[in-house]
Amino acid sequence: MFKRVLITAALPYANGIPHLGHMKSTYLPADVLARFYRLKGVETLYICATDEHGTPIQLAAEKAGKNVEEFVKNYHELDKKIFKSLDIEFDVFYRTHSPENEELTHLFLKSLRENGYIYKDYVKLHYCPNCQRYLPDRYVKGTCPRCGAQDQYSDYCEKCGTTFEFGEILDPKCALCGSTPIPKESSHFIFKLSAFSDFLKNWLKNNKEMQSQVVNYVLRWIEEGLKDWDITREKDYWGFELPYEDSKGKKVYVWFDAPIGYIASTMKWCKDHGDNWERWWKNPETKIIHHIGKDIIYHHYLFWPAMLKGTNLGFNLPSAIPTRGFLTLEKKKFSKSRGWYIAVEDFLKHFPADYARFYLILASPLSLDDTDWSWKEFKDRINNDLVGIIGNFIHRVLTFIYRYFQGKVPEPSEYKEEDKRIIELIKRDIEKIEKLMGTYRLKLALENIINLAREGNKYLNLKEPWKTVKSNVNDAKTTLFVAAQLVKTIAILLVPFIPSSAKKVLEYLNIEKFSWSYLTEVEIPPGHLIKKPEPIFQKIADEKIEEILESMKTENK
Ligand code: 2FM
Ligand code: ZN
Repeated sequence: MFKRVLITAALPYANGIPHLGHMKSTYLPADVLARFYRLKGVETLYICATDEHGTPIQLAAEKAGKNVEEFVKNYHELDKKIFKSLDIEFDVFYRTHSPENEELTHLFLKSLRENGYIYKDYVKLHYCPNCQRYLPDRYVKGTCPRCGAQDQYSDYCEKCGTTFEFGEILDPKCALCGSTPIPKESSHFIFKLSAFSDFLKNWLKNNKEMQSQVVNYVLRWIEEGLKDWDITREKDYWGFELPYEDSKGKKVYVWFDAPIGYIASTMKWCKDHGDNWERWWKNPETKIIHHIGKDIIYHHYLFWPAMLKGTNLGFNLPSAIPTRGFLTLEKKKFSKSRGWYIAVEDFLKHFPADYARFYLILASPLSLDDTDWSWKEFKDRINNDLVGIIGNFIHRVLTFIYRYFQGKVPEPSEYKEEDKRIIELIKRDIEKIEKLMGTYRLKLALENIINLAREGNKYLNLKEPWKTVKSNVNDAKTTLFVAAQLVKTIAILLVPFIPSSAKKVLEYLNIEKFSWSYLTEVEIPPGHLIKKPEPIFQKIADEKIEEILESMKTENK
């Protein structure tokens, strides 16, 4: 059994602002999980940071005419604000260009080399005779040898997710001048990933929490043979220096120090809170859960566990790596350059954060399949499920209690069949939802909560307390007592998903303190005074959606 959870979300590059697509695959599911564990009283850290090194960032800073350190700092601040605006609540949002990360990266590099997992070798690099310089991966574009996609960087195909070694990309061209680069040698440091094949295979096969869909992919890659990994870049690269005497000023490749940023950010949090970071990272009682999108499977299922293991320093391995597909927008790929995406900021001009959280979780199955954001479906889900089912049930119960019983939760009489059924349903569903959330199936958990509210509405329609309050007041009292328990249940269950709205409901219920155990252990007692309720959610008008769709058409022309 674990005592604490360390949840991470893939570190966003500090040259852009995460949009709703990123929120869906990574940051929101991780946030819901973190809130769930906090609610359960499990010691929880939710860790993130900006990923600040590498050529694309260097290029973007150059293009913006900014010093790269200033450039990444600026994006760090912007990203922080965006996450906050969607109620994504990290315990720490740090940076990979930090002293902690440099220290740890050096520790990894030294131990891995001492243990024989890093060796020096001459590698062939692309060299542009026209520009007279070595070309980092991003400066070379060509055709993917596996799927045939054109215009791919020389290290990675965005279409099929394969990473390449030097020489594998077909028809390479210098991205700066278009000429064909020639191979030229340089001494680099190589991580011996191939030495970890058996370890990785066993680890993946024996880990019950790993997503089988992903494990199958990764096992196939291992079967095909893992290649060693060049973790060095040339002198003019934006990254940490290597800690070796024989490294001649070469730099650390961004993907080596990025995941170490998870530990460095924990270190930072621990420094600020008087805690010991090793308690989180070198302890079998800590569960480490990385959330990622499907484009970075290779790095998290292979490189990262091999790095951790290879140091031999007693680091925990990931317990789970929930991996999700991308979000499309009206069935087309999100694309910032083509303006086909939804910025968090723009969304929030029209709707509250909880509306995005609600709909995005419904669009985030634990699966590599892409799912779609459709504005019409968004409207339907909000209007039917959030307003029509959940909001309506809560508001009916609270206003009946307020109107008929002066805001006091009434005293129940003996339960009849239908009342017992709801009490049983509450018990059963809490257990079920807890299990679903603990296994990262948040969409199913949320659908179950919607269903609970649906049952609540049916129950009210069957019992008609607005009639029985005149003809059989004891029955009306029992109904509203039971219904109040269900409102409490739904509100607490919703806290991780739509925290600000759920807390509003709890405020109307006049419940100040709550936790997961409050679900099963505490009943709202008869006589408990609630506050005057107001409707929590507003329906979305058809015109609003038409207006948004119209503006997308014009922007996309
Ligand atoms: O793919 C990306 O956006 C990377 N910046 C993710 C890094 S995750 C971690 F390993 F740091
Ligand atoms: Zn060139």
